Amino acid sequence: MYTAAENRYSQMQYRRCGNSGIKLPMLSLGMWHNFGAITPFETQQSILRTAFDHGITHFDLANNYGPPYGEAERNFGIHMDRDWKPYRDELIISSIAGYDMWPGPYGDFGSRKYLIASLDQSLRRMHLDYVDIFYHHRPDPETPLEETMSALDYIVRSGRALYVGISNYKPEQARQAIAILRRLGTPCLIHQPSYSMLNRWIEDGLTDVLREEKVGCICFSPLSGGMLTDRYLNGIPADSRAGHDPRFLKPESITEEKLGKIRALNDMAQKRGQKLSQMALQWVLRDEVVTSALIGASRPQQILDNIEAIQGPAFTQEELTAIDGILAR
Ligand SMILES: NC(=O)c1ccc[n+]([C@@H]2O[C@H](COP(=O)([O-])OP(=O)(O)OC[C@H]3O[C@@H](n4cnc5c(N)ncnc54)[C@H](OP(=O)(O)O)[C@@H]3O)[C@@H](O)[C@H]2O)c1
Repeated sequence: MYTAAENRYSQMQYRRCGNSGIKLPMLSLGMWHNFGAITPFETQQSILRTAFDHGITHFDLANNYGPPYGEAERNFGIHMDRDWKPYRDELIISSIAGYDMWPGPYGDFGSRKYLIASLDQSLRRMHLDYVDIFYHHRPDPETPLEETMSALDYIVRSGRALYVGISNYKPEQARQAIAILRRLGTPCLIHQPSYSMLNRWIEDGLTDVLREEKVGCICFSPLSGGMLTDRYLNGIPADSRAGHDPRFLKPESITEEKLGKIRALNDMAQKRGQKLSQMALQWVLRDEVVTSALIGASRPQQILDNIEAIQGPAFTQEELTAIDGILAR
């Protein structure tokens, strides 16, 4: 039986999510990779335990994380029964729908029918009565935004989720969604966009919207799927994401151009006395508009390494300018 570390809250720092009552750990753990059928259950268990033992109180799932679709949530249901029931009130557990999940016209995008049915399935798989946050995964070009947002509002009112958020919405779409939710009386807690040193799109308007609207921001893939680590400095290891599960990180996307930047960033991290992964995490968290960095991990040691980013030396203006220079090459 698992007993959580007594000192689990001593190292982590927590940031308020927008102007809500919720604080999130500066690092959260996502279950997109490494929690499906191809990862041993014991590995999953020790990643989750290591995370919580170090103050990572937020686990992020999705209806279609696996493989196969649904498997990460199904596994999480078993983890829940074995480890997490006594700690449920110390955890923020989220799920999401908006990409393809089941065949036919009702298993994708943003209809009321899809979102409510999908969350009911997720709750059954995860053995939960409610999730803490439920997101819409991407804007739907055909369903009226009003319908999607009123489904989120209903989801909260019906007790299936405590808070709602949006993901992958562009600045103007986010502003509209936030306004509709506010009018309905269910404020938007959080936006979940991608953001890393290699992917800075949110700086072009989205962070302004979130700051103005006082909505939280949890950025996914802050290590660019592993590229902003020492993983690929000397080729593609067989046990890396690009090496063994290249569904989303294809070997050919790790180009010489990117590697040039990654090597220069790695040199800089070494001068700062840290690993590239730690510097990359500290960098996405340098502006408090980002509430939390949503990482993935394939082994517990990566969690231990990444946690140290929280205590890293503050960036000087010269370092930030130098990073901008490397990224602009
Ligand atoms: N809303 C959305 O549309 C969306 C989309 C994508 C992801 N997400 C969320 O974001 C979460 C994180 O995404 P991500 O997994 O792409 O994040 P990430 O943190 O950018 O990449 C995680 C991967 O980097 C490698 N890694 C992590 N720490 C390391 C370290 N210290 N040293 C060396 N390698 C390290 C591991 O890959 P190896 O396998 O190579 O060890 C790990 O699986 C997902 O689980 C999901 O919850 C959301």
